[in-house]
Amino acid sequence: MITIHTNENNPSTLKLVIAAAYTKKEVQLNIINLNEKNIKPPGHLPYFEVDDEIIFSANAGVQYFLSVDKQHEIKVKEWLEWESTVLSPYLGIVIGNSSKVKQLKDKLISCLKKLNSNLENLQYLTNNSTPSACDICIWSVIHPLANNENLNKEFLIEVPALLKWFKNLESQPYIAESLKKYPVSAGQAAYQILFNSAKYIAEVTASDVNDESITSEELEAAEKAWKNNIPVLKDQKNTVTPVLPKANEKNILITSALPYVNNVPHLGNIIGCVLSADVFARFSRLCNHNVLYICGTDEYGTATETKALEEGISCQAICDKYFKIHNAIYEWFNISFDHFGRTSTPEQTELCQDIFLELNGNGFMFTDSVEQLHCEKCNRFLADRFVEGGCPNVGCTYEDARGDQCDGCGKLVNAIELKNPRCKVCGDTPKIKTSTQFFMDLPKLEPLLLHWFKMSSPGWSSNAQTIGRAWLKEGLKPRCITRDLKWGIPVPLDGFRDKVFYVWFDAPIGYMSITKRYTEHWQKWWKPEADCPVTLYNFMAKDNVPFHSIMFPATLLGCNRGYVTVSHLMATEYLNYEDGKFSKSRGVGVFGTDAQNTKIPSDVWRFYLLYLRPESQDSNFNWTDLATKNNSNY
Ligand code: MF3
Ligand code: ZN
Repeated sequence: MITIHTNENNPSTLKLVIAAAYTKKEVQLNIINLNEKNIKPPGHLPYFEVDDEIIFSANAGVQYFLSVDKQHEIKVKEWLEWESTVLSPYLGIVIGNSSKVKQLKDKLISCLKKLNSNLENLQYLTNNSTPSACDICIWSVIHPLANNENLNKEFLIEVPALLKWFKNLESQPYIAESLKKYPVSAGQAAYQILFNSAKYIAEVTASDVNDESITSEELEAAEKAWKNNIPVLKDQKNTVTPVLPKANEKNILITSALPYVNNVPHLGNIIGCVLSADVFARFSRLCNHNVLYICGTDEYGTATETKALEEGISCQAICDKYFKIHNAIYEWFNISFDHFGRTSTPEQTELCQDIFLELNGNGFMFTDSVEQLHCEKCNRFLADRFVEGGCPNVGCTYEDARGDQCDGCGKLVNAIELKNPRCKVCGDTPKIKTSTQFFMDLPKLEPLLLHWFKMSSPGWSSNAQTIGRAWLKEGLKPRCITRDLKWGIPVPLDGFRDKVFYVWFDAPIGYMSITKRYTEHWQKWWKPEADCPVTLYNFMAKDNVPFHSIMFPATLLGCNRGYVTVSHLMATEYLNYEDGKFSKSRGVGVFGTDAQNTKIPSDVWRFYLLYLRPESQDSNFNWTDLATKNNSNY
C-alpha cells in the first residue's frame, strides 16, 4: 500500500497525486493537521510511504511512479532539480511571502520565460510524445499561479508556449481527477506552503551575489608589496582595534577550526587550519582589506571529560591548563589571530541557547526518545567511549569491543547491543534506559540547504565541495543534538535542563561568541548590514567538513536572522608523519612543543609546513626532507 502523508493545499503533494493517477496506481492520502500538537516527526510534508520505506522528496516520489526512459533521463533530472531548487523557492518567496524585492520578481519571471522558450519547439518539456516526471512536477507548482487571474497577469507575461502546454495538460482527465481527490487552490495560499520550507532563501541569494574571487590586480599588488619588503610599505592601513567591517571595502572574516582543548596540537593540526588561515589573513591584510581572524579552543564534550578522568582533575581545570598550552604554541608559530578565545564562556552559553531556541521556535527541532546505557553506580549515561563488552556482530567473539566499534572484527557497534556491557570507569554493568533528546530536523531544512549549497560552494576547495555534495546526495537525516552529559551547555527548556548540547552543535557557534568577546560590535561581522557585506572563510582539515558544510549552515539558515554563512570553505587533506599517521593517542609525530624544543626557528617550520601543505592529497612529514628543503634554494 502506498500512503502520502501530507497537509492540505500543498503543491508538492499534488505532484504525487497526479503521478499516481497518470500511472493508474492506488494511493491513500493521510491528511495531517499541522495545528494539532502531537504531530510525530518527521515534520517534513509531504512524505511518501511505500513498502516500509519513506521518501521525503516529492520529486523522488514522482519518479517512483514514472519510470524515466533512458533517452531523456538526464534532461528530466535537470528539470526536476531546477524545479525544486530554483523555481519553487522563487514561487515560495515571491508569491507565498509577497516579496516586494524587484530583483526576485524578475528572477521568477525569467524562470517562467525559460520554460516558455523550451516549450516553443516541444510539446512537453523533454519530448513530443508524452509528459514526463518533470512536466508533472512543474505543472503542479504552476497551477496555483496560472489559475489565478491577478497572478497570471503579473507573472505570465509573453509566455504563449508555456500557457499552451499548461492548458493541454490541464485538460487531461488524470489531472482533473487528481484535483478532485486533492484540491489545491489557485492563488497565494498554496505558495505559502512552499514558502515554509523556502523562506530563508531570499537573504542567502542577496548576500551571495557578489563575486569574491581574487583579482589579478590584487595578486600583483601583493607580490609587489612582498618584494618591496613589507615593513616599509607606505600605504598600509593603520589598523585600529577592534577591526570592524566598513562600507565599500572588502571585509574578510577568517576562522580556523577550533581545536579540541584536550591535547597538544601537532604539526598536522597546525598546517591543517591555523597556519593556512594565518597565511591567508596576512595576505588579505597586505591587500589592505578589513580582516578579522578568529580562533580558540573547543572545550566541551566527552573528549574533555575523558581527559579529566585520566588526569584526575576537573573539566574546567583541564580546559584552563590546555588552553594555555594551545595559546603558547600558536604564539610561538607566529599565528596572527586577532583574537584567540575559548568556548567555555558565558557569551557562548547565551548565544548557543539563544540559537537553539530560535531554531526550535522556527519549527526545526523535535524530540524523540533514545535508548542509551546508564551506569547506576556512576550515576551517568555512558558515552560510547565509556563502555566495553562482547561484540554483538555475528561470528565475532571479541570480548572487549568498544561502544562504537569492535577492534576484533572492525565493524561498527551499537552500544546498547554489546553483550555483557561494562562501565569503563567502575566496571559495573550498565542498564538500558530511554531518555528524550532534541533532534535537528535536517530533512525539513534540506530544500533550503540545497539551494544555499549551490550558491555558496563554487568558492570552496574541491574536497570540501565533494564531501558536502556527497552528504546532500545521501539525503539528510534528523540529527540528535543533545546529550546526557554534565560538561557542556545546558539545554534551556524545562524537562531538559539536566542535559547539555552535543559538542558539535555548540562548537561552531564558538566562532561567533569568541568574536563577541573581542568586540561588542560583533554583529557587524556576523549579521552584516546590507551596505557592509562580509565574506566568511573557514579553514579546517577535511574531517571537519560535514559540520561546516551542512550542520552549521543549517543551524544559521534555520535561524533566519541574516547570519553570514561560509562562502569559502577551505579544507586540507592529511599530513602524515614519516609515512605513518600522526596520532595524539599514541604520541606519534611532532607536536607543537617538540617543534619548539628543536631550536629550529618557527619561520623554518612555517616554511616547510606550507611547502608540504596537503592541498589535494595527503603529504608526508620527513626530517631529512625538512633539512634538504630548508638548505636549498626555494
Ligand atoms: N574541535 C574540533 C576538532 O578539533 C573542531 C571544531 S571546529 C568548530 O576536530 F567549528 F566546530 F569549532
Ligand atoms: Zn567484533
